[in-house]
Amino acid sequence: MEITNVTEYDAIAKQKLPKMVYDYYASGAEDQWTLQENRNAFARILFRPRILIDVNKIDMATTVLGFKISMPIMVAPTAMQKMAHPDGEYATARAASAAGTIMTLSSWATSSVEEVASTGPGIRFFQLYVYKNRKVVEQLVRRAEKAGFKAIALTVDTPRLGRRESDIKNRFTLPSNLTLKNFEGLDLGKMDEANDSGLASYVAGQIDRTLSWKDVQWLQTITKLPILVKGVLTGEDARIAIQAGAAGIIVSNHGARQLDYVPATISALEEVVKATQGRVPVFLDGGVRRGTDVFKALALGASGIFIGRPVVFALAAEGEAGVRKVLQMLRDEFELTMALSGCRSLSEITRNHIVTEWDTPRHLPRL
Ligand code: FNR
Repeated sequence: MEITNVTEYDAIAKQKLPKMVYDYYASGAEDQWTLQENRNAFARILFRPRILIDVNKIDMATTVLGFKISMPIMVAPTAMQKMAHPDGEYATARAASAAGTIMTLSSWATSSVEEVASTGPGIRFFQLYVYKNRKVVEQLVRRAEKAGFKAIALTVDTPRLGRRESDIKNRFTLPSNLTLKNFEGLDLGKMDEANDSGLASYVAGQIDRTLSWKDVQWLQTITKLPILVKGVLTGEDARIAIQAGAAGIIVSNHGARQLDYVPATISALEEVVKATQGRVPVFLDGGVRRGTDVFKALALGASGIFIGRPVVFALAAEGEAGVRKVLQMLRDEFELTMALSGCRSLSEITRNHIVTEWDTPRHLPRL
């Protein structure tokens, strides 16, 4: 049957993939309250569409850190994509490039920065996990820079791995035919089996729990690439991130895989946007599955959004063609949302085009 929306790839991936792999991609932390809330919170935001505006031409193009892209919909870093499809990160890179948008490559990719760069032209960001061994980090950042990656997305919400219970039950580990390619030569490319989640043990062994704001400054001493701080959920941290030299902020709860019972990212977005006072762009990821979600995020002040799970599920179902289709469907839905709301360009999307539950009632009931 024809696929008509992004969410449908989830069920197909579930059928196709080994349970251990599907569960790793799909799950959130603990009660998975935030996982549901990432979706539910979008559903509580409604539109205030404007009518009788000539919407014959719709322009979705934008710039991110000075790079021109075709739409404000980008690809979030998700680890180990070759578990979904043999083409893994190559397929994602090609699909993003064909869509004229940015792919973020995970530190824990099953393809190296050099391999992904060799798939062809495209604007790509590199997501960084900071290892205890800073020489490893320095080397990797240099390699990414050399391979033509344009920014570092520094993930700051993972000093330890969130408790994902299905990974514990499944004894999740990276299949033995694959490696974390960026770390292969450094003897850090394999994940041992553990009595719980193999990934949680890997993180506990290798990732630097002492990471702090001074390291955001340290990172700027080893690279000239702009740094996006990924995992901000409060206005307080948004302000500190700017002081620490961040070029942008990604409002993210890691797809609800880290701390459960944090708010949905769409609920946290406006606080962060207000705190930044327009000094740096703010992006969002988490639960974006519809063009209407993209519009809502932009109306609340985001400069763009990233998608995570839809990409891995589409990869599992149809490889590169699936990822292309996901990006195309979201693009088409977003364009339609703009037309039906009376917005011809991204700059015409305003806060008045939506109403949230935290807005004061515009029309007080007449008593
Ligand atoms: C992730 N995410 C993630 N983030 C990161 O900084 N480095 C990583 O390696 C990964 N890996 C990863 C794997 C999988 C399977 C998922 C689902 C997520 C988080 C990711 O970048 C993003 O924040 C969320 O996926 C966004 O939420 P949605 O779109 O999946 O709801």
